[in-house]
Amino acid sequence: MNELLFDLSAYLKVNKTLVEDCLAKILGQLDPSRELVQAMTHSLMAGGKRLRPMLGLAAAQACGGNPLTALPACCAIEMIHTYSLIHDDLPAMDDDDLRRGVLTCHKKFSEATAILAGDGLLTHAFYVLTRPATVFEFYPEKSILLEILARICLAAGVNGMVEGQMLDMQAQVIESSIESSIAQNNIGNNIGNKQDLLDHLKKIHGLKTGQMIRVSVEAGALSAKADSQALASLGVYADNIGLAFQVMDDILNVEGDPDIMGKAIGSDALHDKMTFPSILGLEQSRAYARQLVDTSLTAISKFDKRADPLRAIANYIINRDH
Ligand code: IPE
Ligand code: IPE
Ligand code: MG
Ligand code: MG
Repeated sequence: MNELLFDLSAYLKVNKTLVEDCLAKILGQLDPSRELVQAMTHSLMAGGKRLRPMLGLAAAQACGGNPLTALPACCAIEMIHTYSLIHDDLPAMDDDDLRRGVLTCHKKFSEATAILAGDGLLTHAFYVLTRPATVFEFYPEKSILLEILARICLAAGVNGMVEGQMLDMQAQVIESSIESSIAQNNIGNNIGNKQDLLDHLKKIHGLKTGQMIRVSVEAGALSAKADSQALASLGVYADNIGLAFQVMDDILNVEGDPDIMGKAIGSDALHDKMTFPSILGLEQSRAYARQLVDTSLTAISKFDKRADPLRAIANYIINRDH
């Protein structure tokens, strides 16, 4: 198997530096004495796996393009992802104190500043994407940039991640009420009910996590002028690793090491979150994640060895410890 020979950690190291240098350059164009800029910098430069940019670069490579052309979209997506984490951690949402190994934005600054830092990252992402020459040497032509922009808006917004976050919040209420009806009516063995829960959970995860992962892959492919057939195969790849990624996030929230992860564990159970382990149990959740990754690998089996980074990232998603 080609991907077994591929050195993913070297690939991630080089490309993480590449992306982080660009992110630093983007922030470097803003006045560092402003508290808003400091709060944005605190969260954006705290690290993180940079998975979405890695997927964008890897998809561009798989489609035979220059990965550097995908950098504007990769950086914009990472800025949007970071904004979503800042807001996700707020007391009104998941109420977390630690993110990427440092204090969450609202803990380090204030709640209002964190809200505004998220807003700042979100809107500036669109500036960077639509004026790439201010930061990047290589970027797609305007018509491609516009297509990428539209897809990012869809993935991040009211029909994508934001709706996923909304449903995730509402699911806490749904699961609590199902638990109480199980207790009252003894309907715990009702398989139809469990299947409904799973279907709803897949929908939530697909929106809150899957859409941004899918658009990372699509943006990379579009930057490399991929044809519609390649885009379709990569879409199947992305949807499957996106779901696998969130299943693993749920598993790690139960059994991960908070020191390695840089964020708290146990918070899903504490907040009555509907998760894969809470419905399927840990063992079945792990098997499901493996099955999703296998499906993602099949979807890109016709790509040549330039897709090895995509293959290696798919395997990494379920073997990660953070
Ligand atoms: C965490 O995303 C939130 C989810 C969508 C599951 P990541 O696990 O990619 O977080 P970072 O970017 O590495 O910090
Ligand atoms: C976060 O999901 C998803 C987004 C920010 C869009 P979670 O709340 O499940 O992720 P963590 O565990 O806080 O990283
Ligand atoms: Mg959340
Ligand atoms: Mg959270």
